[in-house]
Amino acid sequence: MKQYLKLDEWSIIEESFDPALHEISESIFSIGNGYMGQRANFEERYSGPSLQGSYMAGVYYPDKTRVGWWKNGYPEYFAKVLNSTNWIGIDVLINGTPLDLAQCEVKDFVRQLNMKEGYLSRRFVAVMEGGKEVQIEAVRFVSMKRQEIGAIRYAVTPLNFSGSIRFVPYLDGDVQNKDSNYDEKFWLEVEKAAAADLSYLTLKTKKLDFHVTSVMAFDVFKNGQKLEFVPSLSEREKFVSAEAVFDIEQGETLTLYKYVANVTSRNHGLGQLVDAGKKALLEAHAAGFDTLLREQAEAWAEKWKGSDIIIEGDASAQQGIRFNIFQLNQTYTGEDDRLNIGPKGFTGEKYGGSTYWDTEAYCVPFYLSTADSTIARNLLIYRYKHLEKAKENARKLGFTKGALYPMVTMNGEECHNEWEITFEEIHRNGAIAYAIYNYVNYTGDKSYLSQYGLEVLAEISRFWEERVNFSNLKGKYVILGVTGPNEYENNVNNNWYTNRIAVWTLEYTLEVLDYLKANENARYLELVDKLKLTDEETAKWRHIIDNMYYPVDEERGVFLQQDGFLDKEIVPVKDLPPENLPLNQNWSWDRILRSCYIKQADVLQGLYFLGDRYDLETKKRNFDFYEPLTVHESSLSPCLHAIIACELGYQEKAYEMYLRTARLDLDNYNNDTEDGCHTTSMAGTWMSVIQGFAGLRVRNDELVLKPFIPSHWKSFSFNVMFRGATLNVNVTEESIIVTNETDVPAAIRIYDNSYTVGAHGEIRAQRATVTV
Ligand code: BGC
Repeated sequence: MKQYLKLDEWSIIEESFDPALHEISESIFSIGNGYMGQRANFEERYSGPSLQGSYMAGVYYPDKTRVGWWKNGYPEYFAKVLNSTNWIGIDVLINGTPLDLAQCEVKDFVRQLNMKEGYLSRRFVAVMEGGKEVQIEAVRFVSMKRQEIGAIRYAVTPLNFSGSIRFVPYLDGDVQNKDSNYDEKFWLEVEKAAAADLSYLTLKTKKLDFHVTSVMAFDVFKNGQKLEFVPSLSEREKFVSAEAVFDIEQGETLTLYKYVANVTSRNHGLGQLVDAGKKALLEAHAAGFDTLLREQAEAWAEKWKGSDIIIEGDASAQQGIRFNIFQLNQTYTGEDDRLNIGPKGFTGEKYGGSTYWDTEAYCVPFYLSTADSTIARNLLIYRYKHLEKAKENARKLGFTKGALYPMVTMNGEECHNEWEITFEEIHRNGAIAYAIYNYVNYTGDKSYLSQYGLEVLAEISRFWEERVNFSNLKGKYVILGVTGPNEYENNVNNNWYTNRIAVWTLEYTLEVLDYLKANENARYLELVDKLKLTDEETAKWRHIIDNMYYPVDEERGVFLQQDGFLDKEIVPVKDLPPENLPLNQNWSWDRILRSCYIKQADVLQGLYFLGDRYDLETKKRNFDFYEPLTVHESSLSPCLHAIIACELGYQEKAYEMYLRTARLDLDNYNNDTEDGCHTTSMAGTWMSVIQGFAGLRVRNDELVLKPFIPSHWKSFSFNVMFRGATLNVNVTEESIIVTNETDVPAAIRIYDNSYTVGAHGEIRAQRATVTV
């Protein structure tokens, strides 16, 4: 862990250049707009260690599975979002010498991610051969308003010499994924043209036939005056460039504006890509850099209006939470229901940019509260569209009915290939069902159930029906051979969380069926017919609900993570010599599996999801038992513990957990930020403030708040959208003020009192202390 970034409420700032930290910064300073994303690579050549990364959402490659020992049922491929054409590149030659920060002295370096307005900037002085100093100022963004557009302003000022500057803006498609299983390159060239006004390059993937066209144009200005020139052009395989050389006097500034449109066959017909790219580019070019940058600031102002959290009295916490919100907003914007949220967003290649249960369990709440409900709805529809594939997946594993959603996917097909996860981490099905409940409970949009929700719920229920078996010994249903959320144990029997979420899914499915039967009968009959749902099936679901086995320890009053958990030697993490941690880097896998140590919330995940069904005493006993055994080696872990700790009034614990998540990437807490940021767990950080510190829940159609405030925060405030209203919640040590910023009244409860906040109305309440 190294803290090298300057504290600032709205920006991430790096004030000197350290090549050893460069790949970490490349992740942290990434930019994206939901449609594409770009690591903070330099525009100019850089020969030091770097992970070049430009990613187009949804453009992926089925990379042939690599595995030591093949098991029936393994997927043939691992899908990965592809590193695509490097569109930011600009070679810069100063008096014929390439500018390369690995080859020269770098002074006054400042890299800044302006989160308020959504752009990345960099300023430095490079000391070249013979002490020639040149100042560079670069600004870059990918447009939120015009999603296919990226723009760069790159200004060069020789400080102590006169000479020549050669600019070579290019598009380079000869790129490779670092995580390619067989060191293969995935792109083929389709067509290209370098021309004075516009150059373009079209590539296609070797499989699946995704096409991506990048079109670029550039202008050069000297001291603010546009220059006329005829560039020299060059082409080679998967590469086009245009270049021009300019004489420049000491103190003058030469500014290059590079505009690029990246269009894909996901959104345009194959024959139309070049035209579509040119059209988008010409429009952006005509608007000009300053207009595009202004549009960007406006688009981000809108985003912040919905999602900002303001923390007074703690600049570090403020920067941390804004960074998380910024990354979430630039990863998923929700217009395209074919897209989802990879655990690393667009900031790196680990996890392949694929979809995990992280989305339903951690990200859905963020988008539900901070954006129009269609955005979270699209995340649900994504899974609805994959229902047939989830059914196929279940058949492939030998089930005669039902749907098993994949653990890792891009298009609905499973692409993970570790048996203990692919075949056993089936609790993911529960999270997908739970997200439907969460969405309907939050938004009140019950139409989702008849349109899409019931089909998914019924097929997941059918899976659970077949996945349980009746144990004659126990006289109960059991679920054998699973991996719970705690991946530090595999192939366990009766993981409490899995059994519980399975039964909850059955209960909820039956509840939804009853609701539709009573309220949308014609559609209900249509769906029963479509699903061929029988009375025997629903009767069996009821039987499972009533007769499921749950491991418990009566003496301690806790749910047992799985059968036999208490056979383990139970030693709290705090008693382990610190050099053992993190366990996944210091212990053999065998030792981890046999130990009592828990990677992430497991029983507690269930108590969080089903929080309204368990009293505080039960939550307390389980938290007190499991938290001391938890090593939080998944970034998804601390946030959930922070939320439950808040509920229990464990303020110090809650804050300790919050700190582990809030600045995870900014402070490189897990020593792995160079692989990319932990984007999905950032939603968990947001949850730990909103659901943890503010205690926000939706119960019985009311928005419930039970806030507490960390001791050194003066106040915190945030906006949440709830059923058409936008509410601003402000919490101080003394009071809670909820202001309705819209015309739509909202039902809220603060601690135990219910209110209606009328149009543009305000409610004030005293802060109270929660004790268990
Ligand atoms: C966690 C999983 C998670 C995955 C991707 C793993 O370390 O254990 O729960 O889905 O990371 O974030």
